[in-house]
Amino acid sequence: MEKPEHKPGKTSRRGFLGKALTTAGTVIAAPTLLNQAHSHTETAQANTGEMTTKLLVNGKQHSLEIEPRVTLLDALRENLGLVGSKKGCDHGQCGACTVLIDGERVYSCLSLAVMQEGKKIVTIEGLATGDNLHPMQSAFVEHDGFQCGYCTPGQICASVALVDEVKKGCVSYVTSDLNNPPQLADISETEIKERLSGNLCRCSAYNGIVAAVQQVAGQETPSPMAEILVRESQEA
Ligand code: FES
Ligand code: FES
Repeated sequence: MEKPEHKPGKTSRRGFLGKALTTAGTVIAAPTLLNQAHSHTETAQANTGEMTTKLLVNGKQHSLEIEPRVTLLDALRENLGLVGSKKGCDHGQCGACTVLIDGERVYSCLSLAVMQEGKKIVTIEGLATGDNLHPMQSAFVEHDGFQCGYCTPGQICASVALVDEVKKGCVSYVTSDLNNPPQLADISETEIKERLSGNLCRCSAYNGIVAAVQQVAGQETPSPMAEILVRESQEA
């Protein structure tokens, strides 16, 4: 059968019907495509989305909807409003984010919040009892163990853990006799400095920090000012 002649610039009846059907088909198909797009989005959210995480922080149980990639530090600061733990480097290099998990010191910037379910987390906000500071907090105040204070929450949490570690008989890199770990009563300044070497203080309040730990350890501590005077007189 001979094909009808198609004249350029003119729409044939067949062409018009074809276009109309295509447009109608698009309109009909649009909801289906939208539904598919929605279901793709939901699948993506299900794969990477938030999950319910229960955290016990400073004696209080919290239920958070967070993504699995959220660090404990971000969960504490951004979700729970506990901003005492500081973000210094966010790379496990400064110790400003140190908190206690089941009594052990941990860099919270290197720890995922979802991994801490069922554990007991203590931050600087949970060390005091009511208006009474933790002995380590009082010792930091008494010995000027800080200046700007940015590293201080991490320093104090690490120092609290240090004391517990010594009580348990843990040794350090500078312990000379591994069979005879130091006791709190005789732990040396070198030991304390080594055991706190994962916590940096850009204000260099190290003398006061060591003196604070010595005080909590039950040792006689010269005040930082006395130490400086002794050094100056020795150098003169
Ligand atoms: S912020 Fe975690 S180690 Fe620096
Ligand atoms: S007190 Fe300022 S960084 Fe330590």
